[in-house]
Amino acid sequence: MDRRTFVRTAISRLSALAIGSVAAGADLSAATFGNQEKFQNENNAVASRAQNNSERTLREYNLVAEPTQFEIPSRGIFEKWLYNGKFPGPEIRAREGERFRLTVKNNLPEGTSIHWHGIPVHNAMDGVPGITQPAIPPGENFVYEFDAVPSGSFLYHSHFGFQPDRGLVGTLIVEEKKAHIQYDREYTLAFSDFLADAPRPLGVGMKAGGGPMLAPPYVTLLINGCPPEAPAVFSVKNGERVRLRLINVSGATIYRIAIGGHPLIVTHTDGRPVEPLRVDALNLAPGERYDVLVEAKDPGAWSIAASPDNDLPPARAVLRYLDSNETQSRQGALPEGLSGGQLLKLEDLRGMDLPEMRKPNRTFNFTLAGGEMKPGGMMSPPGMMTQQWTINGQAYPNAEPIEIHQGEVIRFRLDNQSAMPHPMHLHGHFFRVGNVYKDTTIVWTHSKRVELDFIANNPGSWLFHCHNLYHMEGGMTRVVRYLPA
Ligand code: C2O
Ligand code: CU
Ligand code: CU
Repeated sequence: MDRRTFVRTAISRLSALAIGSVAAGADLSAATFGNQEKFQNENNAVASRAQNNSERTLREYNLVAEPTQFEIPSRGIFEKWLYNGKFPGPEIRAREGERFRLTVKNNLPEGTSIHWHGIPVHNAMDGVPGITQPAIPPGENFVYEFDAVPSGSFLYHSHFGFQPDRGLVGTLIVEEKKAHIQYDREYTLAFSDFLADAPRPLGVGMKAGGGPMLAPPYVTLLINGCPPEAPAVFSVKNGERVRLRLINVSGATIYRIAIGGHPLIVTHTDGRPVEPLRVDALNLAPGERYDVLVEAKDPGAWSIAASPDNDLPPARAVLRYLDSNETQSRQGALPEGLSGGQLLKLEDLRGMDLPEMRKPNRTFNFTLAGGEMKPGGMMSPPGMMTQQWTINGQAYPNAEPIEIHQGEVIRFRLDNQSAMPHPMHLHGHFFRVGNVYKDTTIVWTHSKRVELDFIANNPGSWLFHCHNLYHMEGGMTRVVRYLPA
């Protein structure tokens, strides 16, 4: 290895350690974010991550996006667009510090792209058509390559129009080298809302019959592709500690999640480790993830349920003890946590890899508003009235970019003046909200201001948007752009 390669590799390792500070320890992370020089190192390291890392183990996956028939037993066969014929798509996994090589083949009748939600990839790998790459044309391939750093529970999805609600979503896991919790087995639970037909913008005349369609016409809610009447079953043994990765891959549905007879011990917010906290239920918005531990010590079959913020019956799955002959009895009842008990409050959580944040160099005040019908919208047919959603009165793409400088600490102050909650997501960065690190956080209606702080340590152009697909496409989107130093 020549000197330049060595330097690059060393910087790259530094980056892996700094970002994957779960394994490296919280002190390193604080040191890394503590001063300006360290920011520079971090930035160089991030830039070098796109380059070759020959000694890293490569995790290669092929993802084919194509029209596929998907059957829900007893409900019928639906024309969806899926990854590798699966819904959700195949789970993508690596160990922290390995490298992903993900080849995407577009067999759809239109362009596509994939976004690796939550992973602070190099900008060119972020998968936003028109911002970080041209859309992948029908019939063509695109190769995404980036380091599996940091560890955590993530998702991936198309970032082209309404394609996620066609079914182009999946889960992505980066396993810790050393977790701060102990467990005997783990499961991923992907929560999704399901459309029978092609997604369309919400608006007047969009509904069959002509009336206003104010919410997407989801027909059911699924956990790992299974409907409530034929639920997915997660087996456990008495005495085990089970890690559940709760991932919301839905287009627009926020859930309250609980498990009959079992408290949830929250261990991670959007993949970042937190001091374990016991609750009875938690809210999970599109794009959000919580990892929880469940202590299996009450044999039987129990209901895992997620009640939505729409009129559909709750999504369901079953937690079943292998050593129990009970199969159906208790799973019929909804968990008490859906309506009572201790609901997780974000402010009660404490992150374990929080950087010591300096005072913000720059603060942006953003008012979230909208819901009115306006003519025209990003994806709407000409002349149609569609629902418009705004940040400071501007609906993307008719909106100014948010301009920041590398090395700054940036604060976004969000004020939701609308009648809907907005799960706001920032690409390419984790932000501090309360005392945790996240990349997506709900701004409730009539809420107090939510403040997000992040370190501008990953240059490029990044989206900041509501992760309700219909709000995002209805204008609640901005580009965050790094200005040249
Ligand atoms: Cu998961 Cu821009 O989104
Ligand atoms: Cu993202
Ligand atoms: Cu929203």
